[in-house]
Amino acid sequence: MFDLSDFAKLTNSDSEDESDKLTNEQQYEEKQINVHDEILTIREFHFSTTNAGYVWPSTFFIIDYILKHSELFKDKRIIELGSGTGILSLFLKKKGFNVTSSDIDEKDVTENNQYNQNLNNVNYDHIPHTWGEKFPEDLNNFDIVIASDIILYVAYFEKLMITLRQLMDNKPGAFMLMSYKRKLYNSKRFFVLLTENDFEYEMVESKTWIIRKSQPNTTKRSKESIDNIVL
Ligand SMILES: C[S@@+](CC[C@H](N)C(=O)[O-])C[C@H]1O[C@@H](n2cnc3c(N)ncnc32)[C@H](O)[C@@H]1O
Repeated sequence: MFDLSDFAKLTNSDSEDESDKLTNEQQYEEKQINVHDEILTIREFHFSTTNAGYVWPSTFFIIDYILKHSELFKDKRIIELGSGTGILSLFLKKKGFNVTSSDIDEKDVTENNQYNQNLNNVNYDHIPHTWGEKFPEDLNNFDIVIASDIILYVAYFEKLMITLRQLMDNKPGAFMLMSYKRKLYNSKRFFVLLTENDFEYEMVESKTWIIRKSQPNTTKRSKESIDNIVL
């Protein structure tokens, strides 16, 4: 079974030099990132077992999609899963969307999200929540789920399904917008599990998907068959 800490080592290794390997102290770096007409300052951090410390590429695809289809998201209550540094929620909040972020219940991740909110004078709710655990807020508070680059965690897919079902079961109109630019060879399992959990999915842009609960009595579950999914 793929071990998350191996993945963290792999992704951290690019930026490691010999001195990094000798210390367990967290290392931080602040960057200015231009996103459309906004300049955001984002603090990244190097050591995260779930890769929450860096800005990942799909963030920008989700932003583009939401801006292009803003009528679908305006006045909806959006929850981001796996928010990492918080850049996506930060940007959306600045643009006036009603967004809440959430990520694994780990101190470094939660603190960095709050730090980045302060750095950018933005304020939104962040929910520390590990997939599969009881959701700490009323699930009816959310209409739309968004997530960037979260299908790297094959070992946690079943738990992620629990969370997606909690957020989307029995909510007509609810959907998830998900994009990935990074994946693993067995990320396809995510789509297999979606079908098994009565979700249907449609690719709306390259590697960007809309996922909904299947309607009762639909035989055709997905517009893309799993065999056609190119990962
Ligand atoms: C590759 S990072 C992407 C971060 C951010 N969405 C971005 O695009 O910059 C994946 C995110 O999923 C979160 N994650 C991984 N496993 C999780 C779990 N079991 N429960 C909750 N969040 C998890 C990580 O903490 C991390 O923030």
